Amino acid sequence: MSVDVLLGLQWGDEGKGKVVDFLANNYDIVARFQGGPNAGHTLYVKGQKIVLHHIPSGIFHQRPLNLIGNGVVIDPVSFQKEIEKVKQAGANVAQKLFISRKAHLILPTHKLLDAASEAAKGKDKIGSTLRGIGPTYMDKIGRNGLRVGDVELGKFEQYYKDLVKKHQGLLNHLYQYEYDLPALETEFFESIELLRSMQLVDGEYMIHNALKQGKKVLAEGAQGSMLDIDFGTYPFVTSSNTITAGVCSGLGIAAATIGEVIGITKAYCTRVGSGPFPTELLNETGEHIRQAGGEFGATTGRPRRCGWIDLPALRYAVMLNGVTQLVMTKADVLSALPQIAACVAYEVNGSETPNLPYDLDRQPVEPVLKQFECWQQDLAHCTGYDDLPASLQNYIAFIEQYLGVPITIVSVGPGREQLVHKKAEILL
Ligand code: GDP
Ligand code: IMO
Ligand code: MG
Repeated sequence: MSVDVLLGLQWGDEGKGKVVDFLANNYDIVARFQGGPNAGHTLYVKGQKIVLHHIPSGIFHQRPLNLIGNGVVIDPVSFQKEIEKVKQAGANVAQKLFISRKAHLILPTHKLLDAASEAAKGKDKIGSTLRGIGPTYMDKIGRNGLRVGDVELGKFEQYYKDLVKKHQGLLNHLYQYEYDLPALETEFFESIELLRSMQLVDGEYMIHNALKQGKKVLAEGAQGSMLDIDFGTYPFVTSSNTITAGVCSGLGIAAATIGEVIGITKAYCTRVGSGPFPTELLNETGEHIRQAGGEFGATTGRPRRCGWIDLPALRYAVMLNGVTQLVMTKADVLSALPQIAACVAYEVNGSETPNLPYDLDRQPVEPVLKQFECWQQDLAHCTGYDDLPASLQNYIAFIEQYLGVPITIVSVGPGREQLVHKKAEILL
C-alpha cells in the first residue's frame, strides 16, 4: 500500500484540517510529517470549532491511528493544552495518538530565541508565529536538539540544562534579551510528565509495518508549499520542507511509496506574516475577502493578507509536489463579488514570465490578471458538482487546464460535509 499526501499549495491555511477530517476514515493512519504548533488546522466536531496544532486531523475518527512523525517539532506545553481540548471534545487520545521518539522538542528558550531574533530583525522580521519553530529546527540541523525519546532517558534534565546554557549565552550576549525562565520551566517540566505517559513509538517502523500489512496512510502537511524552506519565498518561509519530499524524511518512508498527492488551494490566496505576495489586494476587495472568509490566523489571530489566486505560483507548487488531484476551498467566500481575477503570469522588468522569479522579494513583480465573472450566489445548497453555478464551473475548468490537474473536491463552507465531489468517487 502507499502513502497518500495532503498538503497546502499556497502560504498555508488552505483548509487542510477540514479536508483531512473529511477524508480520515478512508485511512488506517493519519500522520503529520513536519512543522509544529505554528500550524493551526481548524475542524468542526459536532458543531464545535477545534483548532489543532500538533495533533493530526484524523483524531476524531474511528478508523485511523494518528501519528506525530519524526519531522515534527513539539512544544510540550502547548501540546498539553491541545490534548485537554481534544479529550473534552471526545477524542480517544490514549488509544489513537502516537508520537515518534525522533520528533524534536521545543524548549522554552527556543521560544525566547524566536522572539529575540524577530525583535532584532526589526522591520525585516519574518513575521514568525513565535512558537520557537526556527530555533528548534536550527538545533536539529546543528545536532544540538533534544528529542521526544530523550524524555525516557535518565539524563534528560542534564541534557536539558546543557542546551539551555547554550541558549542563555545567545539570549544574554547576542540579543541582550530579558526573560523570566523559572516560571516557564515549571510548566515545561509538568508537560514533560504528560509526554512520558503517552504512546511514544519508532514512527518509521509503525508506518512501515502498517504498509506491509496493506494498511492505508495519509500524510497531513502543515503550512504550504510557498513557505517551504527550500522552494518558498525565502527568507520569508518556515524552517521545514512542507512539500511532498518532506514526507519521506518526516516519516521515514521511501519515495516510491508515495501514492496520491492531494494539493489544496483556496479559490483566492492568503498569507500571514511578512514576505512577497504578488496578487495581494490592498484595497476594499481585499478587506471584503478578509471579512467574508474570516481570514484571521487560527494560531495567532493575526489578520491574513488577501489577494487573487496566483496560478504561476500554484503551477510551481504542483510541479514540486507531484500533485495528482486538487481540492479547492472557500469558493463561497467570493460569492458576493461581481468579478474576480486570477494571476496568469508575472510582469518583471517589462516582460512577461510564467515562472516564479528567484528574487521575488527584491524586485517589483506585477501580476498579469485574467478577469472572471463571479457566481454571485449562495453555494450552501450545492451538494453535487452539477449544482455549482456555471461561472464557478468555468473558473474551475480554467484553473484545471492551466495547472494540468483535476479539481476533484470543491469545498463550499467550513462544515465537515460542506464539500462537493466532482467525480462520483475521489481518486483514493
Ligand atoms: P489549515 O491551516 O489549512 O487547516 O486552514 P485553517 O484552519 O488555518 O484556515 C482555514 C479556515 O477556513 C478555517 O477557519 C476553516 O474552518 C475555514 N474553511 C475551510 N474550508 C472552507 C470553505 O470551503 N468555506 C469557508 N467559508 N470556510 C472554510
Ligand atoms: P498552517 O499549517 C500560515 C508563517 C508565519 C510566518 C512564517 C514563519 O495552519 O497552514 P514560523 O512560526 O514557522 O517560523 O513562521 O510562516 N506560518 C504560517 N502561515 N499557516 C501556517 O500553518 C503557518 N505556519 C507558519 O506566519 O510568516
Ligand atoms: Mg492554519
